Amino acid sequence: MLRSHTCGEVRRAHRGQTVRLAGWLQRTRDLGGLLFLDLRDRYGLIQVVIDPGEQVELAARVRRINRESVITVTGVVRLRPPEMVNKEMGTGEVEISPAEITVLSECRELPIPFEEIVDASEELRLKYRYLELRRPYMQKHLEIRHLAATAVRRHLDSKGFWEVETPFLMKSTPEGARDFLVPSRLNRGRFYALPQSPQTYKQILMVAGIDRYFQIVRCFRDEDLRADRQPEFTQIDMELSFITEEDIFTIVEELVINLFKEAIGAEIKPDFPRMDYDDAISRYGTDKPDIRFGCELRNVTDIVSGCGFRVFDEAERAGGVVIALPFANVGLSRRQVDEVNAIARDCGLAGVVAGKWTEGALNAPLNKFLAEGKAAALQKILLGGEDGIVLFAAGDRRAVLGGMGKLRLKLGEHFGLPKAEGFLPLFVVDFPLFELDEAGRITSSHHPFTSPLEEDIALLNDEPLKVRSRAYDLVINGYETASGSIRIHRRELQERIFQKLGMGKEEAEAKFGFLLKAFEYGVPPHGGVAFGFDRLVMLMCGRDSIREVIPFPKTTSGLSKMDGSPTTVAQDTLEELGFKLVGRGKNGLRFEIEIPDPDKMEVKN
Ligand code: AMO
Repeated sequence: MLRSHTCGEVRRAHRGQTVRLAGWLQRTRDLGGLLFLDLRDRYGLIQVVIDPGEQVELAARVRRINRESVITVTGVVRLRPPEMVNKEMGTGEVEISPAEITVLSECRELPIPFEEIVDASEELRLKYRYLELRRPYMQKHLEIRHLAATAVRRHLDSKGFWEVETPFLMKSTPEGARDFLVPSRLNRGRFYALPQSPQTYKQILMVAGIDRYFQIVRCFRDEDLRADRQPEFTQIDMELSFITEEDIFTIVEELVINLFKEAIGAEIKPDFPRMDYDDAISRYGTDKPDIRFGCELRNVTDIVSGCGFRVFDEAERAGGVVIALPFANVGLSRRQVDEVNAIARDCGLAGVVAGKWTEGALNAPLNKFLAEGKAAALQKILLGGEDGIVLFAAGDRRAVLGGMGKLRLKLGEHFGLPKAEGFLPLFVVDFPLFELDEAGRITSSHHPFTSPLEEDIALLNDEPLKVRSRAYDLVINGYETASGSIRIHRRELQERIFQKLGMGKEEAEAKFGFLLKAFEYGVPPHGGVAFGFDRLVMLMCGRDSIREVIPFPKTTSGLSKMDGSPTTVAQDTLEELGFKLVGRGKNGLRFEIEIPDPDKMEVKN
């Protein structure tokens, strides 16, 4: 070893010993006639003290070493004078008096000062990710990530799960995003897809009798990125045979409680509450409600019906609704009402009308329209009889609820409303099996392998949008952290669902024939769930972007700033893959891919 101890482990008990430490020179300070060095490694920080009067040559050499250079320090451990003890530091009682300091690797001038990251752009921080990862807070994130992954493996092993790997080069699985494609050199014109999730494989593992599968696995989705979405992210993926929803809820609950305890020492209460999808939408405007604070939405269409306030009446006439968002004991000035309206527009609402109750009386302009009794009834229902603000929005039910749900979260922050401490998980259940996409076509709310509720199967033909699914989500503090379902395990029903999704027999066969085939050879009823591992770790680290807990994340435009990917590749590499250069376009070279007639396609076995 190049060192006898780590920087973080030296203590009072080492007093008088000669140690050899290695690490990064975090900073050098000239103070009171002494030269202080902070030496850092993953385990901590330790102080090295040189007396320039006595160690003239050493002090001169050390002053020339740049910050963040890698050095070794050989010296004696001594106790700090009592007034110099630093209780905040693990090594705060000791310091090193060096006999020799050697530079192992010089650091050039830093692009981002080590201590001051606030001003550095995220782009720069991603480009020099290795410098960013040196910071103690980032190392803490990686440590928590490691502890969480280890806890998952330990816990699931103790529950009889096997970790089984599934391919990255596979056939497309629909999870609602686009696939990343990989051209096949051996089979020209053919492509693998990187898995959006191992969904079909894990179901096939159940057919194979594996009974309890898990995997901490990378998934790839070509979708628009946000703070809680990356093109490659990690799932804790699980599948189980011969189970019901209740079994899965128990397994999920135990795993979450264990994980938070092991990784960060947090206690989460058992018996996670459950909420119907419909209930979540009506009360929180979203299927991932943050239940750490109240201010629940309320449909007040009946109460304000025919009141004469134009916006409300028009919405009601058009079959819409009036939704209220209450904030008890909050006051708003005129200027703040304007601010709230700007925020409401950011949330996709046309605007909001503010009702303000002061000493039991409602302010203008709403009070003109609401008879005395109605204003008092609203105050009672919405504010529990307290003074406060209620924001009203009118229009199409789904759109207004969605907008008000977002506004609730933003204003919760804006008003600094107190939230319950810690982590508040809940299961959202009874999702619809289908929903309509932007073009009005039926799509799966989760994915096409989700089982409908047995008693709703009769509705499949005539009222498919009313069919409920056996899907569930786990939501923690307003983030969807896991999602899963009991699956279809009968070929006929799976085929019917494909057909409902607009997939003809041939298309279904071409895309999922392998799964349908497997369903002919003895399938255990099964179900499963997948956690967004990055989101879990993000919550554990108290962050609001998964980029902070992924060692090497992409920017929101999908770029890797450090290695510059995605990059162009050499023309001959592309030609080998069957791409033919056909000229130069606006955005660079243009290629055509030879796709042979599938019937005549020669597939190498
Ligand atoms: P789903 O698509 O809901 O389900 O994904 C499961 C969980 O993965 C996380 N997640 C993401 N995290 C970061 N970046 C992304 N782009 C991203 N997309 C999803 C979320 C989500 O809850 N095969 C099914 C699971 C199943 O049915 O068992 C699936 O992948 O936390």
